[in-house]
Amino acid sequence: MSFEPKILGFLCNWCCYAGADLAGVSRMQYPPNIRVIRVMCSGRIDPAFIFESLRVGADGVFIGGCHLGDCHYLEGNYEAVKKFEMVQKFLKLINFDNRVRLEWVSASEGARYAATMKEFTEHIKSLGPSPAGGNNPDKLILNKLRAMEEAASGDRMRVLVGRERKITEQENVYGEKTDMDNFFKIFDKAIVEEYERARIFIALEEKSRSVKDIAAELDIDPSIVLEHMIILKSRGLVDFGEIVGITPMFIKI
Ligand code: FES
Repeated sequence: MSFEPKILGFLCNWCCYAGADLAGVSRMQYPPNIRVIRVMCSGRIDPAFIFESLRVGADGVFIGGCHLGDCHYLEGNYEAVKKFEMVQKFLKLINFDNRVRLEWVSASEGARYAATMKEFTEHIKSLGPSPAGGNNPDKLILNKLRAMEEAASGDRMRVLVGRERKITEQENVYGEKTDMDNFFKIFDKAIVEEYERARIFIALEEKSRSVKDIAAELDIDPSIVLEHMIILKSRGLVDFGEIVGITPMFIKI
């Protein structure tokens, strides 16, 4: 039996949704795999929506907005690009980045919407079913997607995404400006660190663990796990539990 992917689409009300509507009333043919959620602007799509969509079994996620320069809220789609780039960097860690797509479709581009849906559906079909979907989803992948969702929702990533332009285009109080290369180095480091911290935090939900246990379980160097523990403790998210022998066990607060 051929695989029919489940695709979740977040379409901005003013452009892509209207383009989809036009494709429909014009009786243009395209695969019926997409389920649409209408949002007012592509900038409204929180990265957590995308991770959650994949976590609940979507094989692909499509985001459609107005062409750059046409956003009805001026800069919403520029914000969408920044958020999307962050989501892609997270998803690349588990080879899921090719399951999400961001496209611009105007209200008059019904044919473009239909063609994009056809192409994206074929693309997802070629990837096969998501390991996070179906009746027997891969628990490790589900955990990783949840860690990404939590990491992307944290203050550090929100600040980096929301202030990228300010950080790279304006001088700070010391008259210094961060160039794009340096910014992306900071950004990429933050992605890996916040993702690993979220994975550690999730692992501690089940039971208390030592640094060594977590390092072995998550395949992260013990010295890095210890650094993450210190940060998580300073954020008030984990604490010392019992001492087993001479080994301190960490617990989630
Ligand atoms: Fe369409 Fe902002 S209103 S992307």
